[in-house]
This record gives sequence, C-alpha cells and structure tokens, in this order.
Amino acid sequence: MTSEPEPPPPPDGGEPRTSRRSLAIATVVGACAVAAAAAGPAVALVLSPLETRKEGGRWVRTIKLDQLEQGQPRRVAIVSDRKDAWTVERNVELGSVWLVRHGDEVRAFSAVCPHLGCSVNAVLAPDGKGEGFACPCHTSSFDPAGKRTSGPSPRDLDVLDTKVEDGHVAVDFRRFRTGIAEKVET
Ligand code: FES
Repeated sequence: MTSEPEPPPPPDGGEPRTSRRSLAIATVVGACAVAAAAAGPAVALVLSPLETRKEGGRWVRTIKLDQLEQGQPRRVAIVSDRKDAWTVERNVELGSVWLVRHGDEVRAFSAVCPHLGCSVNAVLAPDGKGEGFACPCHTSSFDPAGKRTSGPSPRDLDVLDTKVEDGHVAVDFRRFRTGIAEKVET
C-alpha cells in the first residue's frame, strides 16, 4: 500500500493544506459536538416518556361511577400531567378508554385498535347496552368483553385495570404496541 505524498507548502507561506483540512475537520467535529450537546434535551424529551411508562402505568381519575349506566360503554378522555425530566405539561389529553360498568365494578378497554392504532367505537343495541366494539378502519370487531371476533386485529382489545376511589373511576393508563399478537407495553 502506498502512502499519500506530503502536499507542497502553500505559496503564501501559510499552514500546509493538511493542517487547514485538519482545522476544518476539527471545526466541523466541534460544531457537531456543540449541536449534539444542544440537542441533548430534545432527544431526552422523546425518550423520557418511554422510560417513565416502562416503570408502570399511571392511575388517572376519570368520571364518577354514578355517571356510568349499567352495561353501557362510555368513552372517557384520559387527562393527566405529561412529565419528562425537564418539564411538566398540565392537564394534557393522553388518550381515551371505553368504560363499561357491571354492578359496582368497571371494565376499561383501550380505545386504540391493536391492529394499526385507529380508534375503536362501541356498538350499541337500541337500548344503549353495549354489543361490542368495532374499528372502522379495517373492520376489526370485538365482543362486549373485548375479545376479537373478526378482522385483522392480531389480539383482543387491551384491558386496563380500574379502581373506584372517592366515587370516581380511576384507570391505570398504559399504551401497548400495535400490530403484534402479544400485549406489550410501549
Ligand atoms: S386499525 Fe383497526 S382494524 Fe385496522
């Protein structure tokens, strides 16, 4: 292998081109380092919520239990603070869930279709009772318990834990990956 010949000294007696090129490279590297340092918080802003969610869901208080009719699905927004290492956004809508009351217990289903993430709707009988759920995008259907009955969804609707505290329904809000058969939290 032959090595590159040394460049001739510049006619003006300045630094050799290699030094200028090294200086230019060093300047670019330095600029990248500064840019990376400046971009650090932005990257962490993207990553931080994922890390937070991996620690578990968050209990979010929703409507009063009395506001739910027996067996009638009701869609509720999940509103809570969105936090990362640097900022807190107050009262952000993080998503929504379907709540269905049976006695004094409440079942919660993620409103996100496990296929590609579209919003699922409740299918109601004339008396308002829930007959299941359906996704309008690619026609996945689910029974009242969230079990998949047809369509391309690779799994049942994702069920979330609930509890009743001070007369309100609280939901352990989490998000799950779409497009796979397993229920895997994101
Ligand atoms: S996103 Fe629901 S069926 Fe495709």
